[in-house]
Amino acid sequence: MSDYHLENIVEPLLTWYAKNARTLPWRENTEPYRVWISEIMLQQTRVDTVITYYKKFLQTFPTMHDLATCEDEQLMKLWEGLGYYSRAKNLKKAAQIICEDYHGQFPTEFDIVIKLPGIGTYTAGAICSISFGKKTAAVDGNVLRVITRLTKNSTDITNNKFREEVKKNLEAIYPKDRCGDFTQSLMELGAVICTPNGVPKCSECPLKEHCLAYKEKRQMEFPVKKKKGERKIENKTVFLLCYNDNIAISKREQQGLLGGMWEFPNLDKILSKKEVEKWLLQQEINNVTIQSTFKKKHIFSHIEWHMNCFVILCDSMGNKTNLKWVTKQQLEKEIALPTAFKKIYKEIGDI
Ligand code: ADE
Ligand code: SF4
Repeated sequence: MSDYHLENIVEPLLTWYAKNARTLPWRENTEPYRVWISEIMLQQTRVDTVITYYKKFLQTFPTMHDLATCEDEQLMKLWEGLGYYSRAKNLKKAAQIICEDYHGQFPTEFDIVIKLPGIGTYTAGAICSISFGKKTAAVDGNVLRVITRLTKNSTDITNNKFREEVKKNLEAIYPKDRCGDFTQSLMELGAVICTPNGVPKCSECPLKEHCLAYKEKRQMEFPVKKKKGERKIENKTVFLLCYNDNIAISKREQQGLLGGMWEFPNLDKILSKKEVEKWLLQQEINNVTIQSTFKKKHIFSHIEWHMNCFVILCDSMGNKTNLKWVTKQQLEKEIALPTAFKKIYKEIGDI
Protein backbone atom coordinates (compact mmCIF):
# COMPACT_ATOMS: atom_id res chain seq x y z
CA MET A 1 0.00 0.00 0.00
CA SER A 2 2.93 2.26 0.69
CA ASP A 3 3.71 3.28 -2.92
CA TYR A 4 0.08 4.02 -3.83
CA HIS A 5 -0.87 7.69 -3.80
CA LEU A 6 -4.03 7.50 -1.75
CA GLU A 7 -4.30 11.30 -1.55
CA ASN A 8 -5.46 11.35 -5.18
CA ILE A 9 -8.82 9.82 -4.29
CA VAL A 10 -9.93 12.61 -1.95
CA GLU A 11 -11.07 15.21 -4.43
CA PRO A 12 -12.92 12.96 -6.92
CA LEU A 13 -14.58 11.07 -4.08
CA LEU A 14 -15.83 14.23 -2.36
CA THR A 15 -17.08 15.69 -5.65
CA TRP A 16 -18.91 12.47 -6.45
CA TYR A 17 -20.41 12.30 -2.94
CA ALA A 18 -21.67 15.89 -3.08
CA LYS A 19 -23.67 14.96 -6.20
CA ASN A 20 -24.66 11.39 -5.47
CA ALA A 21 -25.10 10.90 -1.72
CA ARG A 22 -28.36 9.20 -0.86
CA THR A 23 -30.71 11.27 1.26
CA LEU A 24 -30.78 9.42 4.57
CA PRO A 25 -32.39 10.67 7.77
CA TRP A 26 -29.16 10.60 9.79
CA ARG A 27 -27.46 12.78 7.20
CA GLU A 28 -29.86 15.68 7.72
CA ASN A 29 -28.60 16.50 11.17
CA THR A 30 -25.18 15.41 12.35
CA GLU A 31 -25.56 16.00 16.05
CA PRO A 32 -23.67 13.17 17.79
CA TYR A 33 -26.66 11.58 19.52
CA ARG A 34 -28.32 11.00 16.15
CA VAL A 35 -25.18 9.83 14.35
CA TRP A 36 -24.42 7.45 17.20
CA ILE A 37 -27.88 5.83 17.12
CA SER A 38 -27.69 5.44 13.33
CA GLU A 39 -24.20 3.93 13.36
CA ILE A 40 -25.15 1.40 16.03
CA MET A 41 -28.25 0.38 14.08
CA LEU A 42 -26.27 0.18 10.82
CA GLN A 43 -23.62 -2.11 12.32
CA GLN A 44 -25.53 -5.28 11.60
CA THR A 45 -28.57 -4.12 9.68
CA ARG A 46 -29.23 -2.92 6.14
CA VAL A 47 -29.85 0.75 5.41
CA ASP A 48 -33.43 0.19 4.14
CA THR A 49 -34.42 -1.57 7.34
CA VAL A 50 -32.68 0.92 9.59
CA ILE A 51 -34.52 3.99 8.23
CA THR A 52 -37.88 3.12 9.79
CA TYR A 53 -36.43 2.00 13.10
CA TYR A 54 -34.23 5.08 13.27
CA LYS A 55 -37.12 7.52 12.83
CA LYS A 56 -39.27 5.75 15.38
CA PHE A 57 -36.40 5.58 17.86
CA LEU A 58 -35.75 9.32 17.64
CA GLN A 59 -39.44 10.11 18.00
CA THR A 60 -39.62 7.98 21.12
CA PHE A 61 -36.29 9.04 22.64
CA PRO A 62 -35.43 12.45 21.18
CA THR A 63 -32.69 13.21 23.71
CA MET A 64 -29.84 11.48 25.53
CA HIS A 65 -31.75 11.92 28.77
CA ASP A 66 -34.85 10.19 27.36
CA LEU A 67 -32.73 7.19 26.42
CA ALA A 68 -30.82 7.10 29.70
CA THR A 69 -34.05 7.03 31.73
CA CYS A 70 -36.21 4.84 29.48
CA GLU A 71 -37.92 1.64 30.50
CA ASP A 72 -36.02 -1.46 29.36
CA GLU A 73 -39.26 -2.96 28.12
CA GLN A 74 -39.99 -0.03 25.84
CA LEU A 75 -36.43 -0.01 24.52
CA MET A 76 -36.53 -3.72 23.70
CA LYS A 77 -39.87 -3.34 22.01
CA LEU A 78 -38.52 -0.56 19.80
CA TRP A 79 -35.57 -2.76 18.90
CA GLU A 80 -37.74 -5.78 18.14
CA GLY A 81 -36.83 -7.21 14.74
CA LEU A 82 -33.45 -5.48 14.52
CA GLY A 83 -31.62 -8.28 16.33
CA TYR A 84 -28.40 -8.18 18.34
CA TYR A 85 -30.21 -6.83 21.38
CA SER A 86 -27.00 -6.15 23.27
CA ARG A 87 -26.70 -3.14 20.98
CA ALA A 88 -29.81 -1.62 22.56
CA LYS A 89 -28.70 -2.44 26.09
CA ASN A 90 -25.33 -0.86 25.43
CA LEU A 91 -27.00 2.25 24.03
CA LYS A 92 -28.85 2.78 27.28
CA LYS A 93 -25.78 2.05 29.39
CA ALA A 94 -23.71 4.52 27.38
CA ALA A 95 -26.48 7.15 27.60
CA GLN A 96 -26.47 6.77 31.39
CA ILE A 97 -22.71 7.21 31.51
CA ILE A 98 -22.92 10.28 29.26
CA CYS A 99 -25.63 11.80 31.47
CA GLU A 100 -23.80 11.05 34.70
CA ASP A 101 -20.21 11.77 33.71
CA TYR A 102 -20.50 14.27 30.85
CA HIS A 103 -23.64 16.32 31.71
CA GLY A 104 -25.50 14.65 28.87
CA GLN A 105 -23.05 16.03 26.28
CA PHE A 106 -21.59 13.44 23.95
CA PRO A 107 -17.79 13.35 24.55
CA THR A 108 -15.80 14.67 21.59
CA GLU A 109 -12.48 12.88 22.11
CA PHE A 110 -11.97 9.61 20.22
CA ASP A 111 -10.16 8.01 23.18
CA ILE A 112 -13.14 8.70 25.44
CA VAL A 113 -15.82 7.83 22.90
CA ILE A 114 -14.26 4.43 22.25
CA LYS A 115 -14.53 3.53 25.94
CA LEU A 116 -18.33 3.80 25.91
CA PRO A 117 -20.24 0.49 25.93
CA GLY A 118 -20.97 -0.84 22.45
CA ILE A 119 -18.62 1.56 20.70
CA GLY A 120 -15.57 0.18 18.90
CA THR A 121 -12.93 1.67 16.63
CA TYR A 122 -15.28 1.84 13.67
CA THR A 123 -18.18 3.56 15.43
CA ALA A 124 -15.93 5.96 17.35
CA GLY A 125 -14.23 6.89 14.07
CA ALA A 126 -17.57 7.47 12.36
CA ILE A 127 -19.00 9.64 15.16
CA CYS A 128 -15.88 11.74 15.68
CA SER A 129 -15.47 12.47 11.98
CA ILE A 130 -19.15 12.98 11.11
CA SER A 131 -20.23 14.92 14.19
CA PHE A 132 -17.02 16.59 15.34
CA GLY A 133 -15.10 17.00 12.05
CA LYS A 134 -12.11 15.00 13.26
CA LYS A 135 -9.67 13.04 11.12
CA THR A 136 -10.82 9.67 12.43
CA ALA A 137 -11.45 7.05 9.76
CA ALA A 138 -14.20 4.45 10.10
CA VAL A 139 -12.90 1.28 8.49
CA ASP A 140 -15.47 -1.46 7.96
CA GLY A 141 -15.86 -4.19 5.34
CA ASN A 142 -17.13 -1.69 2.76
CA VAL A 143 -14.14 0.58 3.15
CA LEU A 144 -11.68 -2.34 3.14
CA ARG A 145 -13.21 -3.58 -0.10
CA VAL A 146 -12.75 -0.20 -1.77
CA ILE A 147 -9.20 0.25 -0.51
CA THR A 148 -7.95 -3.25 -1.34
CA ARG A 149 -9.33 -2.93 -4.88
CA LEU A 150 -7.86 0.52 -5.40
CA THR A 151 -4.45 -0.60 -4.21
CA LYS A 152 -4.65 -4.22 -5.44
CA ASN A 153 -3.78 -5.34 -1.95
CA SER A 154 -4.21 -9.04 -1.22
CA THR A 155 -3.72 -8.95 2.56
CA ASP A 156 -6.39 -10.91 4.43
CA ILE A 157 -8.89 -8.24 5.50
CA THR A 158 -9.78 -10.09 8.70
CA ASN A 159 -6.29 -9.21 9.92
CA ASN A 160 -6.66 -6.44 12.52
CA LYS A 161 -3.19 -5.08 11.94
CA PHE A 162 -4.14 -4.47 8.32
CA ARG A 163 -7.32 -2.69 9.38
CA GLU A 164 -5.25 -0.43 11.62
CA GLU A 165 -2.84 0.25 8.78
CA VAL A 166 -5.69 1.22 6.46
CA LYS A 167 -7.12 3.48 9.16
CA LYS A 168 -3.76 5.18 9.62
CA ASN A 169 -3.21 5.65 5.89
CA LEU A 170 -6.69 7.11 5.47
CA GLU A 171 -6.32 9.48 8.38
CA ALA A 172 -3.19 10.87 6.75
CA ILE A 173 -5.24 12.04 3.75
CA TYR A 174 -8.40 13.31 5.51
CA PRO A 175 -9.47 16.70 4.11
CA LYS A 176 -9.36 19.31 6.87
CA ASP A 177 -12.86 20.74 6.51
CA ARG A 178 -14.85 17.77 5.23
CA CYS A 179 -13.96 14.89 7.53
CA GLY A 180 -17.53 13.70 7.92
CA ASP A 181 -18.20 13.80 4.20
CA PHE A 182 -15.01 11.89 3.52
CA THR A 183 -15.97 9.13 5.97
CA GLN A 184 -19.42 8.85 4.46
CA SER A 185 -18.21 9.08 0.87
CA LEU A 186 -16.05 5.99 1.38
CA MET A 187 -18.98 4.12 2.95
CA GLU A 188 -21.26 5.29 0.18
CA LEU A 189 -18.93 4.21 -2.62
CA GLY A 190 -18.63 0.78 -0.99
CA ALA A 191 -22.41 0.52 -0.61
CA VAL A 192 -23.60 1.65 -4.04
CA ILE A 193 -20.70 1.45 -6.57
CA CYS A 194 -17.91 -0.78 -5.30
CA THR A 195 -20.44 -3.36 -4.19
CA PRO A 196 -19.82 -6.62 -2.34
CA ASN A 197 -21.97 -9.14 -4.19
CA GLY A 198 -21.43 -9.55 -7.89
CA VAL A 199 -19.60 -7.20 -10.20
CA PRO A 200 -18.92 -3.63 -8.98
CA LYS A 201 -20.18 -0.73 -11.11
CA CYS A 202 -16.75 0.41 -12.21
CA SER A 203 -17.99 2.36 -15.21
CA GLU A 204 -19.81 4.73 -12.82
CA CYS A 205 -16.95 4.89 -10.31
CA PRO A 206 -15.32 8.26 -9.66
CA LEU A 207 -12.09 6.46 -8.77
CA LYS A 208 -11.71 4.22 -11.78
CA GLU A 209 -8.67 6.10 -13.04
CA HIS A 210 -7.00 5.49 -9.69
CA CYS A 211 -7.98 1.86 -9.33
CA LEU A 212 -5.21 -0.70 -9.81
CA ALA A 213 -7.59 -3.68 -9.74
CA TYR A 214 -9.81 -2.09 -12.40
CA LYS A 215 -6.81 -1.42 -14.65
CA GLU A 216 -6.08 -5.13 -14.73
CA LYS A 217 -9.75 -6.24 -14.65
CA ARG A 218 -9.07 -8.00 -11.37
CA GLN A 219 -11.76 -6.28 -9.24
CA MET A 220 -13.31 -9.60 -8.29
CA GLU A 221 -10.07 -10.87 -6.77
CA PHE A 222 -10.29 -8.34 -3.94
CA PRO A 223 -10.78 -8.21 -1.03
CA VAL A 224 -9.02 -11.38 0.07
CA LYS A 225 -10.78 -12.80 3.05
CA LYS A 226 -9.87 -15.92 4.94
CA LYS A 227 -12.56 -18.54 4.60
CA LYS A 228 -14.93 -19.12 7.48
CA GLY A 229 -13.76 -21.88 9.74
CA GLU A 230 -10.14 -21.22 9.00
CA ARG A 231 -8.60 -19.94 12.18
CA LYS A 232 -6.33 -16.98 12.35
CA ILE A 233 -3.05 -17.67 14.13
CA GLU A 234 -1.82 -15.06 16.57
CA ASN A 235 1.66 -15.35 18.00
CA LYS A 236 2.20 -14.15 21.53
CA THR A 237 4.92 -13.83 24.12
CA VAL A 238 3.58 -14.36 27.63
CA PHE A 239 5.39 -13.49 30.84
CA LEU A 240 4.98 -15.28 34.14
CA LEU A 241 6.59 -12.79 36.45
CA CYS A 242 7.16 -14.42 39.84
CA TYR A 243 8.34 -12.83 43.05
CA ASN A 244 8.38 -15.25 45.99
CA ASP A 245 4.81 -16.48 46.16
CA ASN A 246 3.47 -13.63 44.00
CA ILE A 247 2.62 -13.55 40.32
CA ALA A 248 1.94 -10.50 38.15
CA ILE A 249 -1.32 -10.19 36.24
CA SER A 250 -2.77 -7.35 34.21
CA LYS A 251 -6.12 -6.35 32.81
CA ARG A 252 -7.01 -6.78 29.13
CA GLU A 253 -8.47 -3.91 27.14
CA GLN A 254 -12.26 -3.73 27.33
CA GLN A 255 -12.66 -4.17 23.58
CA GLY A 256 -12.20 -7.42 21.74
CA LEU A 257 -11.39 -10.99 22.65
CA LEU A 258 -11.61 -11.66 26.42
CA GLY A 259 -12.27 -7.94 26.89
CA GLY A 260 -11.72 -6.71 30.45
CA MET A 261 -10.52 -10.09 31.76
CA TRP A 262 -7.31 -10.75 33.70
CA GLU A 263 -4.25 -12.09 31.90
CA PHE A 264 -0.57 -12.66 32.33
CA PRO A 265 1.32 -9.74 30.80
CA ASN A 266 1.97 -10.48 27.15
CA LEU A 267 2.80 -9.01 23.75
CA ASP A 268 1.25 -9.85 20.39
CA LYS A 269 4.45 -11.16 18.80
CA ILE A 270 7.35 -13.52 19.28
CA LEU A 271 10.25 -11.77 20.98
CA SER A 272 13.95 -12.60 20.84
CA LYS A 273 15.78 -13.04 24.14
CA LYS A 274 17.21 -9.52 23.73
CA GLU A 275 13.74 -8.08 23.23
CA VAL A 276 12.51 -9.94 26.31
CA GLU A 277 15.27 -8.36 28.34
CA LYS A 278 14.38 -4.94 26.97
CA TRP A 279 10.71 -5.44 27.84
CA LEU A 280 11.63 -6.42 31.39
CA LEU A 281 13.66 -3.25 31.77
CA GLN A 282 10.68 -1.23 30.56
CA GLN A 283 8.62 -2.83 33.30
CA GLU A 284 11.28 -1.59 35.75
CA ILE A 285 12.07 -5.11 36.77
CA ASN A 286 15.80 -5.64 37.26
CA ASN A 287 18.06 -8.52 38.20
CA VAL A 288 15.74 -11.17 36.96
CA THR A 289 16.40 -14.76 36.03
CA ILE A 290 14.70 -16.30 33.06
CA GLN A 291 13.98 -19.59 34.72
CA SER A 292 12.40 -21.46 31.82
CA THR A 293 10.54 -21.13 28.56
CA PHE A 294 7.85 -23.27 27.00
CA LYS A 295 5.23 -23.12 24.29
CA LYS A 296 1.44 -23.43 24.65
CA LYS A 297 -1.40 -23.34 22.18
CA HIS A 298 -4.95 -22.22 22.86
CA ILE A 299 -7.80 -22.47 20.38
CA PHE A 300 -10.75 -20.06 20.32
CA SER A 301 -13.54 -20.31 17.75
CA HIS A 302 -11.83 -18.15 15.12
CA ILE A 303 -8.38 -17.60 16.53
CA GLU A 304 -5.46 -19.73 17.64
CA TRP A 305 -2.97 -18.34 20.10
CA HIS A 306 0.53 -19.72 19.78
CA MET A 307 2.18 -18.61 22.97
CA ASN A 308 5.87 -18.48 23.82
CA CYS A 309 5.95 -18.39 27.60
CA PHE A 310 8.75 -17.10 29.81
CA VAL A 311 8.87 -17.93 33.50
CA ILE A 312 10.76 -15.12 35.14
CA LEU A 313 11.98 -14.93 38.71
CA CYS A 314 12.06 -11.32 39.85
CA ASP A 315 13.91 -9.79 42.78
CA SER A 316 11.20 -7.22 43.46
CA MET A 317 7.70 -6.34 42.35
CA GLY A 318 8.76 -3.12 40.61
CA ASN A 319 6.53 -0.02 40.62
CA LYS A 320 4.50 -0.43 37.45
CA THR A 321 0.83 0.17 38.15
CA ASN A 322 -0.36 -1.78 35.14
CA LEU A 323 0.85 -4.92 36.91
CA LYS A 324 -1.13 -6.33 39.79
CA TRP A 325 0.72 -8.76 42.01
CA VAL A 326 -1.35 -11.52 43.53
CA THR A 327 -0.48 -14.55 45.59
CA LYS A 328 -0.96 -17.96 44.03
CA GLN A 329 -3.77 -18.55 46.49
CA GLN A 330 -5.57 -15.39 45.30
CA LEU A 331 -4.98 -16.32 41.71
CA GLU A 332 -6.52 -19.74 42.22
CA LYS A 333 -9.42 -18.70 44.47
CA GLU A 334 -10.37 -15.12 43.63
CA ILE A 335 -9.26 -14.18 40.14
CA ALA A 336 -11.16 -15.19 37.01
CA LEU A 337 -8.36 -16.17 34.67
CA PRO A 338 -9.29 -17.20 31.11
CA THR A 339 -8.47 -20.79 30.18
CA ALA A 340 -5.69 -19.79 27.80
CA PHE A 341 -3.75 -18.40 30.76
CA LYS A 342 -4.87 -21.10 33.22
CA LYS A 343 -3.18 -23.63 30.95
CA ILE A 344 0.06 -21.73 31.28
CA TYR A 345 -0.29 -21.39 35.02
CA LYS A 346 -0.81 -25.14 35.37
CA GLU A 347 2.40 -25.72 33.47
CA ILE A 348 4.56 -24.00 36.08
CA GLY A 349 3.51 -26.23 38.98
CA ASP A 350 5.03 -25.04 42.21
CA ILE A 351 7.74 -22.62 41.45
N1 ADE B 1 -23.29 2.31 7.03
C1 ADE B 1 -22.65 2.60 8.16
N2 ADE B 1 -22.69 3.92 8.40
C2 ADE B 1 -23.40 4.49 7.39
C3 ADE B 1 -23.78 5.80 7.07
N3 ADE B 1 -23.45 6.81 7.88
N4 ADE B 1 -24.49 5.99 5.95
C4 ADE B 1 -24.79 4.95 5.16
N5 ADE B 1 -24.46 3.70 5.40
C5 ADE B 1 -23.76 3.46 6.50
FE1 SF4 C 1 -14.30 -0.44 -6.99
FE2 SF4 C 1 -14.40 -0.59 -9.63
FE3 SF4 C 1 -14.22 1.77 -8.44
FE4 SF4 C 1 -12.15 0.11 -8.46
S1 SF4 C 1 -13.06 1.10 -10.22
S2 SF4 C 1 -12.91 1.28 -6.72
S3 SF4 C 1 -13.17 -1.85 -8.28
S4 SF4 C 1 -15.92 0.32 -8.31
